[in-house]
Amino acid sequence: MSCKTADHILDWAYMGDPEPKAKWSRLSKVNEFVKDVNHSLNCIFCHDPHGAQPRIIRDGLIQALTRPEKDTLWHKDPKAGKVDVKDLGQRGFTRKIAILDKYDTKLQCGQCHVEYNCNPGTDPVAGKPVTMADARTNHFPFKDVNDLAQHYRDLKFRDFKHAITGAMLWKAQHPDVEVYYGSVHDREGVMCHTCHMPKEKDAKTGKTFTSHWQTSPKEYVKEACLGCHKTWSREQAKYTVDSLRNRYQGKLRKAEYWLTRMIDKFEEAKNLGVDESVLAAVREKHYEAHVHWEFWTASNGSYFHNPQLADQSINKGMVISQEAIKVLDEATAKKRTLAAAPAAVAPAAAAAK
Ligand code: HEC
Ligand code: HEC
Ligand code: HEC
Ligand code: HEC
Repeated sequence: MSCKTADHILDWAYMGDPEPKAKWSRLSKVNEFVKDVNHSLNCIFCHDPHGAQPRIIRDGLIQALTRPEKDTLWHKDPKAGKVDVKDLGQRGFTRKIAILDKYDTKLQCGQCHVEYNCNPGTDPVAGKPVTMADARTNHFPFKDVNDLAQHYRDLKFRDFKHAITGAMLWKAQHPDVEVYYGSVHDREGVMCHTCHMPKEKDAKTGKTFTSHWQTSPKEYVKEACLGCHKTWSREQAKYTVDSLRNRYQGKLRKAEYWLTRMIDKFEEAKNLGVDESVLAAVREKHYEAHVHWEFWTASNGSYFHNPQLADQSINKGMVISQEAIKVLDEATAKKRTLAAAPAAVAPAAAAAK
């Protein structure tokens, strides 16, 4: 529920670790926990209730930003704001928040609009379940799509096993912020709130205020886009967004074609009795190709946020699927040749001796 409400903020230890003095933890029964929730997306997610300074409170994000590897997109961002992490553990258990030196919506929206783990899974190396008692069930990678396959290898965490190939795969949440890093608008210094929380004028008083209605910018194209794109009309801006979306949807359907073709070929190869070592290598390729599709099918607005990165990554996934198909085709052909000519092989082998 940490991406829906902050009502439990005083009753939840850092990372949801079970603590005798904290009412709730990762191990709580979800239905009991939900009954203790009354408000959604509280102001205190982004504003300190005392001084109204910009802040973040989501433990998984704070952990990612402070982990010793210093490997997140924020660490690599030359324009990143500073975070001042404070331990507010006066209630007998650790509780952390981080005050920001300025509004940085890549972090503030990044408390929720990101890829994270929030569920049990499997350790693919040990082949054992990862339960909610394990801290890996509350985890933010906060990384680029190209680094995710390796990230989950290192973390030793996968969400599910593919029913046909048996590959251990990843289920994405909604990596919206990760996509945005390095995009055309990001490089121009534009942030999430520029387009999704534009400045509006109060009709009665004429005062300017920050809209907190985070929705599709199509609802307020004039305020969100036309201030910078001065030569466009509302319709042109919307048309551009729709064109980008349609193109992206077409690309994703193509990636699905290659993925499903690879899965069909896998089934064929397995039924023919192709070597386990070949199948194991293809499972790893399935995992990689899957990451470069799953990421995009799960994220929101990526067609607009970073069409260049989407093209690059979806294409990469398709190439990996095609490589896997080639491996399977060759192994299947070899198996068929051997199966079709057992008589011819035996005398030849005898002659060789
Ligand atoms: C998801 C993050 C987020 C949440 C939640 C949020 N705000 Fe904001 N708030 C912002 C950002 C971002 C700005 C403006 C930053 C800028 O443009 O400088 C802002 C600006 C403001 C301002 C400055 C005045 C103005 O209009 O420019 C006030 C007051 C404010 N918010 C109050 C609230 C209140 C009250 C709530 C809860 C009902 C709330 N905010 C919830 C992110 C948030
Ligand atoms: C506490 C978690 C949280 C934070 C922080 C947060 N969001 Fe969301 N956001 C959500 C959830 C959950 C939904 C889905 C709501 C639904 O489907 O009813 C959502 C939906 C949206 C939508 C789609 C709304 C629609 O009309 O369908 C947009 C756009 C959005 N958020 C942008 C932002 C931006 C920009 C920020 C930062 C300023 C932000 N969000 C901060 C949780 C969050
Ligand atoms: C330059 C403007 C711009 C910036 C900056 C921007 N977005 Fe968007 N966002 C858009 C547009 C345009 C769409 C597509 C809306 C549509 O197709 O209706 C969108 C879509 C979304 C959606 C899906 C909304 C839906 O209705 O499906 C979410 C969620 C979202 N953005 C979150 C974010 C977050 C988080 C950030 C910051 C990392 C961000 N956006 C930065 C313009 C922007
Ligand atoms: C703060 C100014 C600003 C805002 C707000 C803004 N843009 Fe941009 N946008 C830019 C700049 C600058 C560029 C880069 C122009 C260039 O390189 O030619 C750009 C580039 C683009 C591009 C080309 C992207 C690409 O990948 O080449 C599109 C499409 C676009 N904007 C649409 C929008 C839409 C739609 C909105 C509103 C949701 C919006 N922009 C809001 C400044 C802005």
